[in-house]
Amino acid sequence: MKLFIKTFGCQMNQKDSEALLGLLQEEGYFLASSLQGADIVLVNTCSVRQHAENRALSFTASLKNRVKILGIIGCMAKARGEEIAQKMPYVDIICSPAKMVEIPRFLKEAGEGKKTLALEDGARPEEFYHSSFRFEKDRAQVVISTGCSNYCTYCIVPYVRGPLRLRRPQDIISEVKKNIGLGIRRVTLLGQNVNDYHYDGVDFVGLLREIDKLDLEEISFITSHPKNIPSDLFYLMAQSKKIKKYLHLPFQSGSNRILSLMKRGYTKEKYRRIVEDYRKIVRGVLATDVIVGFPTEAEADFLETKEMLEEVKFDFAYIFKYSPRPHTAAFFMKDDVSLDEKKRRHKILLDLQKRISLNIKKEKL
Ligand code: 5AD
Ligand code: SF4
Repeated sequence: MKLFIKTFGCQMNQKDSEALLGLLQEEGYFLASSLQGADIVLVNTCSVRQHAENRALSFTASLKNRVKILGIIGCMAKARGEEIAQKMPYVDIICSPAKMVEIPRFLKEAGEGKKTLALEDGARPEEFYHSSFRFEKDRAQVVISTGCSNYCTYCIVPYVRGPLRLRRPQDIISEVKKNIGLGIRRVTLLGQNVNDYHYDGVDFVGLLREIDKLDLEEISFITSHPKNIPSDLFYLMAQSKKIKKYLHLPFQSGSNRILSLMKRGYTKEKYRRIVEDYRKIVRGVLATDVIVGFPTEAEADFLETKEMLEEVKFDFAYIFKYSPRPHTAAFFMKDDVSLDEKKRRHKILLDLQKRISLNIKKEKL
């Protein structure tokens, strides 16, 4: 039986798919290189915005009666598993991120005609990350933590991936060493907020220092949160020859009122100070995420966000239209910025960022 995983969403999902494919390969499944010819298809989903869910749902629906075993796994399974089981009875396996390690068993049972609805949260056993299967030859992602306990009011992550859970430093380092053994020289450390890492006295900077000693060419990490960025991180980034001078630091909104409603835990003034330090000490690339149309966002709030983009001149900015997510605190606020208005604000910022990125490129030539 040939198996294919279609992945939607972020790098964390990519890594989950890779780890799962590795487990399944060890169980004797053949991995299909594309959808064509696959008998088993697992759709690894993202719930961060409605649009991502819609894409995964229509992709899954298009496979109805076309494959032997069909699964919806990952964040959307956790967020909407029961509803999917009802509306898409042809889906054999519905599995939350925490239960992925049990998918080999669920597949066996699906072969015997039994359906699975596994929606529990919980810590993943280390074995989930133990296979040697890698998508790429010279780079790999390494998960340092799963979930998040920050509860930004728009964000579904803590509900679908659970609270912050940390991998032990020795497990992370042994995975990095394993990668090195496989010939991999570039690693990206993954966490919803890497600054939250702390395990038995080892914080994120401590972990980075240890990884910096290993035989690697490049170390990068995503994502960083402005509310608790460690003061010594930038000095380490500046000193190290391996740590990539790249910071993904979402500011989400330039309005302090909206930042407070989002429960982000910083002001735009603090954000600006961090950027100043980063530029002075690291002189690296800066990327950000922005949300337009959060509940109650007025034109004046939006203009402050626009001003932040104009002022900071990010190398990359990912701009999103606010999408109400079930379970979140903001879901209970009125989604009062119309879709047309969200689209207008989104386009203004996209056009602005395009000009800024182009200018940065020109200056570098
Ligand atoms: N609506 C729109 N964008 C969102 N993001 C997270 N949740 C939402 C939401 N409900 C964006 C944030 C985050 C990025 C990964 O996705 O900008 O940083
Ligand atoms: Fe979501 Fe906030 Fe956690 Fe990021 S830090 S994953 S935006 S809750």
